[in-house]
Amino acid sequence: MTRLSLFLLMIAFVFVYKISSIDCKSPIIFIPGSFCSLLEVRIDTALQPACSASLHNQWVLLWLNLRFFEPSNLACLHNIFKFVYNSSSNSFENPLGVETRIVPNSIYGSFLTGILWEYFELDKFLFHFVTKYDYQDGVNLHSIPYDFRRGSNATLLSFNENLKQLIELTYVRNMNTSVYLVSHSTGGSMSLFFLSQQTQIWKDQYIQGWISLSGNIAGEIDNIQNLVQGFLSPFVPRDVIQTWDFFAWRLPEPMIYGSQRTIITSPSKNYTSYDMLNFLHDVNAKELAFIYPEVSSILGYLPAPNVDTYCFFGANVSTPIGYISKSDEFKNNHLETIYGWGDGEQDDTTNMSCKLWNKTMDFKYKLILKGFNGVKHTKLVGNDNVLEEIDKIISF
Ligand SMILES: *[C@@H]1O[C@H](CO)[C@@H](O)[C@H](O)[C@H]1NC(C)=O
Ligand SMILES: *[C@@H]1O[C@H](CO)[C@@H](O)[C@H](O)[C@H]1NC(C)=O
Ligand SMILES: *[C@@H]1O[C@H](CO)[C@@H](O)[C@H](O)[C@H]1NC(C)=O
Ligand SMILES: *[C@@H]1O[C@H](CO)[C@@H](O)[C@H](O)[C@H]1NC(C)=O
Ligand SMILES: *[C@@H]1O[C@H](CO)[C@@H](O)[C@H](O)[C@H]1NC(C)=O
Ligand SMILES: *[C@@H]1O[C@H](CO)[C@@H](O)[C@H](O)[C@H]1NC(C)=O
Ligand SMILES: *[C@@H]1O[C@H](CO)[C@@H](O)[C@H](O)[C@H]1NC(C)=O
Repeated sequence: MTRLSLFLLMIAFVFVYKISSIDCKSPIIFIPGSFCSLLEVRIDTALQPACSASLHNQWVLLWLNLRFFEPSNLACLHNIFKFVYNSSSNSFENPLGVETRIVPNSIYGSFLTGILWEYFELDKFLFHFVTKYDYQDGVNLHSIPYDFRRGSNATLLSFNENLKQLIELTYVRNMNTSVYLVSHSTGGSMSLFFLSQQTQIWKDQYIQGWISLSGNIAGEIDNIQNLVQGFLSPFVPRDVIQTWDFFAWRLPEPMIYGSQRTIITSPSKNYTSYDMLNFLHDVNAKELAFIYPEVSSILGYLPAPNVDTYCFFGANVSTPIGYISKSDEFKNNHLETIYGWGDGEQDDTTNMSCKLWNKTMDFKYKLILKGFNGVKHTKLVGNDNVLEEIDKIISF
């Protein structure tokens, strides 16, 4: 062998090695949970006088912006963070003088752009794949933010368009390699709705698999607490929460929670998952009650994803499984919590939605369910054992 051919062989080896190690791995697209996307707002302060004139007509961070939590800005926050119900379109929209948007993340954008990564160890998730497998941030590792307040057909369909575009562009940019969707919490519901709306041919071409971490696919019991008490109240009080269609969309699903299990008890009623419409009326979320029949049907039939599916859950953490109210109208905001097992936020029952797919999904797709002992809801994404399991999936 001449020195030249040896040299060429080495070049070829390095080239092939580079291609196989960098370009041919399955890209990962991460769909975060509720409250985990950044939102921006532009305010016409003439129409929103509770907001400081210094905010007038410029895009500023709305969520999470601690400045809005200051006492002097709290009234403004409440006015701009809520939606207003429009009875002629039976839908929610921004109040007058308020525009909101997600922080746009382009096909070249960093994984951490547009998401609230600090509280969920998403930097650890990114670092893991970049250091261990040479993933390239913004090339084969992406995330996609969304307005977590929404849960209507129209808003979910527009998220689907964004995700579909991101997947197709990522696929092409990575030598036609199909992608893994990795979702956390509400990202699981977003992913399932997305998958339910794509053709099988499209999914077989573009989706390598779906890894759902703590997916709230069957709705969440603790959303009831938010509807009664708000979220981090007084920052996001119940008056605001009760205008977010998300909270009508993601109440406990009858198909999983059934008609036997009492979820809320008040002096004169026991509510099961079949009584969520009554509950919305009784908690005085009348507008959510108007849209509940429609939005609760969006995922209510728990469609099989029909892609290789991995459902990972935290387990054996004390978790709300029901509530007791001393008032029939939930007026005093006081709830007593009944605890059972889950990941601290979502109870175990939610994993039954994955089990259901064993019967309804095409058997050629894998279905793996796995619990992680003692791992809390918010810690699942950066947990070493979880990352190790994801490694096993993506590296065959
Ligand atoms: C309410 O919805 C209707 C129908 O979509 C629309 O024409 C109207 O402008 C909306 N009202 C407001 C105040 O935005
Ligand atoms: C990707 O697929 C498209 C359409 O099928 C094809 O034109 C293109 O050559 C493929 N690219 C690679 C790198 O295989
Ligand atoms: C609610 O359920 C409990 C336990 O099953 C029962 O004792 C109680 O009578 C029920 N309350 C109402 C108002 O039906
Ligand atoms: C959502 O919108 C699509 C397209 O407009 C429509 O086909 C579907 O029936 C709607 N679903 C619900 C639950 O309203
Ligand atoms: C699905 O069924 C198979 C065969 O009965 C079983 O081995 C597997 O554990 C089941 N998976 C789930 C998620 O229940
Ligand atoms: C939860 O704890 C029980 C009892 O210690 C144990 O048998 C079970 O395997 C644990 N669940 C998980 C997912 O580790
Ligand atoms: C799934 O939920 C059931 C109860 O609904 C529970 O017994 C089981 O441990 C859960 N499995 C995992 C993996 O969390």
